[in-house]
Amino acid sequence: MTEATDKAQYYSCPVGVFDSGFGGASTLRSILHELPDERFIYFGDNANAPYGDRPEEEILRLSEAAAELLLGHGVKALVVACNTATSASIKALRQKLDVPVVSVEPAIKPACETPGSGKVLMLATVATTKLARYRALQARMPEPDRVINVGCSGLVERIERGVTADDGFDDILCRHLAPYEGATIDGIVLGCTHFPFIAGAIKRYAKQHFNGECRLYDGNAGTARQLGRVLRREGLAAPEGACEGLTSNERVRFYTSADAASAEPIFRRLLALPE
Ligand code: DGL
Repeated sequence: MTEATDKAQYYSCPVGVFDSGFGGASTLRSILHELPDERFIYFGDNANAPYGDRPEEEILRLSEAAAELLLGHGVKALVVACNTATSASIKALRQKLDVPVVSVEPAIKPACETPGSGKVLMLATVATTKLARYRALQARMPEPDRVINVGCSGLVERIERGVTADDGFDDILCRHLAPYEGATIDGIVLGCTHFPFIAGAIKRYAKQHFNGECRLYDGNAGTARQLGRVLRREGLAAPEGACEGLTSNERVRFYTSADAASAEPIFRRLLALPE
């Protein structure tokens, strides 16, 4: 079989997306918007969330298992929609898998381009802030010390319960951000895919406790554009109109390691929130 006929079979396959839980739905929102002709299979490893307080080897093992599960469903490409999993496993996944792998990463580059003399706060899981891959990314910034990394445990657990309304996050934010009270902050990086769901709470906290513009950044739109480029480059992009007539449940299938009956409604609600 020629490479061209091989590819022709694959372009109609779905793209696999995974996260430790519901966070990757924020990435998938951007992807759905960017690539209207593609279908997706999402896997939330909700039974094992959060990944962010686990050791690197464990995150790697869980990420490999999530990738295997999606490949078992015949996905043509994989999106690691979890900054923590990217930091711990992206190199190994790319070495091991035959399909293209695209991943989300903390958007510190655009944040560091924000004009101003203030700092950039990078909010992520504890694991992301410590792992070598993220540290290397930070070291490549023109002024690495402008970035303050804050491992924010406690937020993901709450979002995993389906809570996204602004109330109730202030105490947790205060626990992590009190040392920067009154500081001038030019940008805040949402370095965990769960955090765009509480962007309102983070913005409000920043307005009350910091000076400066405090503009929010996340890596979702960049990841969506990168996925589009990779699918086109590899000849794997679905043809125009391929999703016409599909319901949103048909366009995005949902799998979870937890109880699907309770997890799927939360996932669908998060996915339907405006970006
Ligand atoms: N959503 C994930 C991320 O972007 C991590 C959440 C977790 O700790 O499991 O890092």
